[in-house]
Amino acid sequence: MKKSGAEKMSCVPYDHPAFDAHEEVAFFHDATSGLRAMIAIHRHWRTASAGGCRVREYASADAALADLLRLSRGMSYKSVMAGVDFGGAKAVVMGPLPESGEARRAALLRIADWVNTFAGAFRTGVDFGLRSEDVAVMHERTPYVVGLGAFDPAATTAHGVHEAILNAVRHRLDRNDLKGVRVAVQGLGKVGGALVDLLRADGAAVVGADTDVDRAAAAARKGVRIVPVEIIHREEVEVFSPCAVGEILNAATIPELRAAVVAGAANNQLARPEDGLALHRRGILYAPDYVANAGGLIAVAAELGEHDAAWIGRKMKALGRTLSHVFTVAAEKDIPTQEAADDIALERIRERDRRFGHNPRPQLAVQR
Ligand code: NAI
Repeated sequence: MKKSGAEKMSCVPYDHPAFDAHEEVAFFHDATSGLRAMIAIHRHWRTASAGGCRVREYASADAALADLLRLSRGMSYKSVMAGVDFGGAKAVVMGPLPESGEARRAALLRIADWVNTFAGAFRTGVDFGLRSEDVAVMHERTPYVVGLGAFDPAATTAHGVHEAILNAVRHRLDRNDLKGVRVAVQGLGKVGGALVDLLRADGAAVVGADTDVDRAAAAARKGVRIVPVEIIHREEVEVFSPCAVGEILNAATIPELRAAVVAGAANNQLARPEDGLALHRRGILYAPDYVANAGGLIAVAAELGEHDAAWIGRKMKALGRTLSHVFTVAAEKDIPTQEAADDIALERIRERDRRFGHNPRPQLAVQR
């Protein structure tokens, strides 16, 4: 029988190119509102698995599934490099959600019901398209949301990026401080804004750009020189720090970079794997994003494990050491830093797989 295009397209995760022995992939559908979401657990390991809840308008369920599988796997990479116990997980909601009001609230409570089906084995929080007020609404229905505690994930992410910049500058420029070092920050939002404060306190000369004029104006008041968003990556600086959107390091921007170091918070900064090689060939030291921006996950780990600020401080220092290790391995092997980080992360994931095996979910629920 001749198959139609629709029949050939598969949403079965096992066959998907991004499938990486994920332990659970769940599909949810609310028949009344039409709301659809997916939750994937890449690994359970020994504690709850964690990852944000992303709301996006996907072109298809297949596109949402691809994002889900990649992002949940990425969380395992981030977790092992940050030295926290979580296995990687993620939720994606096929948006749009209603902008506000009762309809948005109802959708958020429905998503919370779906989070509850994991009985605590999955913890989630803010991600693209979800606001902290939304997470607070979800918290009315589920205890398994994170990021509402004492430690602000964005501020902690900024601290991690700051640590990454210090380490990269030490490796690439042989300098132990940032006094007078020129840093270009792309995106002056929650993370970028907090990073600016840390850099200014170090005596760095900061140039910034943001599509939001109010955020740019707020940074200007702190002494940041503001330039148009189109040219921020071309600024003559020692460090370029992408803290806005992904895929900013690409075939068009890399030849134009004048920085010696790239270290920022944005997820998925490399548009394609080849772009890591392009940076390497240009002698630009790139701090792999999932290592540099793991501060948010560390804040969540502190919240769930009831750790204090000193614990976070130690994890931050460890993050810096991990990054140094990545830089050293990359230099020794003459490979892109992203490749070195992936190799180290994969080895750590295999090690945890060997140690913890495949933890059955019910057991996790009982442990809590
Ligand atoms: P945010 O939404 O508060 O800030 C992003 C800023 O970038 C906004 O002010 C926006 O106007 C600006 N922007 C958007 N497109 C731009 C462009 N083309 N050029 C310049 N500015 C542009 O987000 P947040 O929380 O500061 O996160 C920044 C990045 O870090 C995101 O990519 C996020 O995924 C990533 N990240 C955030 C974490 C967190 O805990 N907030 C944790 C790990 C990663």
